[in-house]
Amino acid sequence: MLLAIPDILSAAEVRQARALLDAAPWGDGRASAGDQAARVKHNEQLPHDCEAARTVRDSVLRGLDRQPLFLSAALPRKIFTPRFNRYSGTANHYGDHVDNAIRFTEGGQRVRTDVSCTVFLSDPHEYDGGELVIRDTFGTQQIKLPAGHAVLYPGTSVHQVLPVTRGARVACFFWVESMVRSDEQRRLLYDMDMALMQLRQQHGDSPATTTLTGTYHNLLRQWADT
Ligand code: NI
Repeated sequence: MLLAIPDILSAAEVRQARALLDAAPWGDGRASAGDQAARVKHNEQLPHDCEAARTVRDSVLRGLDRQPLFLSAALPRKIFTPRFNRYSGTANHYGDHVDNAIRFTEGGQRVRTDVSCTVFLSDPHEYDGGELVIRDTFGTQQIKLPAGHAVLYPGTSVHQVLPVTRGARVACFFWVESMVRSDEQRRLLYDMDMALMQLRQQHGDSPATTTLTGTYHNLLRQWADT
């Protein structure tokens, strides 16, 4: 499932994030990629332990926590510590690759990358190019969202970031190990959750919505690992 989620960060939070990130000590992005990915990766990344990275990732994590669409779509069990990358100048693209299936946090904890997430921190008018191109069973999609918005996509997909030919594309990215490993099952649960929300908004609660809510939770109980 490919899903755009608005307003992870407010305009004020994006401004604050950018002020910190634009002044931060960026380094070569290849340091953190697997072998295949490192050969096609040409961007900059922020050291995970610098002040700017700590402050902005806390802000992003708070933003995710208050966004019910993210929680419903990703059903997170673990979230890999959010990272930051920048595409500009000669470090301006990242060719086709698949992300490593397992990532290790600084504490040595393993996170299975079921869901990939990018939170855009540059507005589309600030740069040319830089589309996130995602190729999967749903076909090929090119994604470029307003600052503060996020895209979720399956960790299994081949993806790339096209060259940035003007300006800078700054983004936060991370992976989610979901309570529900299967993308298809997550999709069913998400669709059901959204449809139930609409039904309740339009008609209020009824015996049918109570039964369907029970079905949602009983499916989640069958499929989830906690
Ligand atoms: Ni990637």
